[in-house]
Amino acid sequence: VKVVAAYSIKGGVGKTTAAVNLAYLAALQGYRTLLWDLDPQGAATYLFRVKPKVKGGAEALVRRRHPLADAVKETDFPGLDLVPADPSNRSLDLLLDATKQPERRLRQRLQSLEDEYEVVVLDCAPSISLLSENVVRAADVVVVPLIPAPLSLRTLDQLRSFLDETGGRRPAVVAYFSMADRRRRSHREVLEAAPSGQGDISAVTVPAASQVEQMGGRRAPLAVFAPRSEAAAAFRLLWAEVAAAAGLSATGPGPDHDE
Ligand SMILES: Nc1ncnc2c1ncn2[C@@H]1O[C@H](COP(=O)(O)OP(=O)(O)OP(=O)(O)O)[C@@H](O)[C@H]1O
Ligand SMILES: [Mg+2]
Repeated sequence: VKVVAAYSIKGGVGKTTAAVNLAYLAALQGYRTLLWDLDPQGAATYLFRVKPKVKGGAEALVRRRHPLADAVKETDFPGLDLVPADPSNRSLDLLLDATKQPERRLRQRLQSLEDEYEVVVLDCAPSISLLSENVVRAADVVVVPLIPAPLSLRTLDQLRSFLDETGGRRPAVVAYFSMADRRRRSHREVLEAAPSGQGDISAVTVPAASQVEQMGGRRAPLAVFAPRSEAAAAFRLLWAEVAAAAGLSATGPGPDHDE
């Protein structure tokens, strides 16, 4: 299973938007996909119209005696399942801390679903914590939305150092500019100066667009209600890059895919 984490130290940058759209596109391409909403606020759970409740709460998510599969819910879309958020996820850090090898627990939990899913997308709350250490250790690819502002490249540097310090297997990083508004001079300046398309910064830029805001009212991924929008096209390109970084085939799982 390939694990893709939408992660940033910063809040409100587009992590959930990325997680929801990328998970949907993975499933659309035929990958059996699971989105795990780790954020107690449950925005991804809400967007997929699932109740933000896990039987047994966050404890059931980390303790080995509870199969993670028991927490999985179906979405309205074929091939796309969800581990919903639960309000008690706000104590995930403490619960992880109390386990053995806390920093590896998330990956261990996902290993139990190895046969069920080809792609797992993690949506995270913004922070640097034991939970985020778990997330980056579990991830094959970390997707990092950046607002085109001078400080956002600094956030990316902080993330790179965090990955260096965390040690172990280093996930690939796919950073991209999110909510870009070319009418704003400050955004234009950053976009023009930034090394997009080089190193871990993607050439894909997701524009600030009303269609993305509408996801909240529609409670659906962009490709469902605005497939021709510029933002939907950007997420398709971003998914292609993320899939390549994860070592997934660009054409989907292929003919020998077992249903
Ligand atoms: N490209 C975009 N254009 C316009 N609005 C956007 C765009 N991307 C995200 N938004 C809006 O910005 C808000 C924050 O986005 P999102 O929830 O994806 O960020 P987040 O990083 O997950 O936030 P949090 O840290 O609170 O979890 C949402 O209301 C979302 O609809
Ligand atoms: Mg979010």
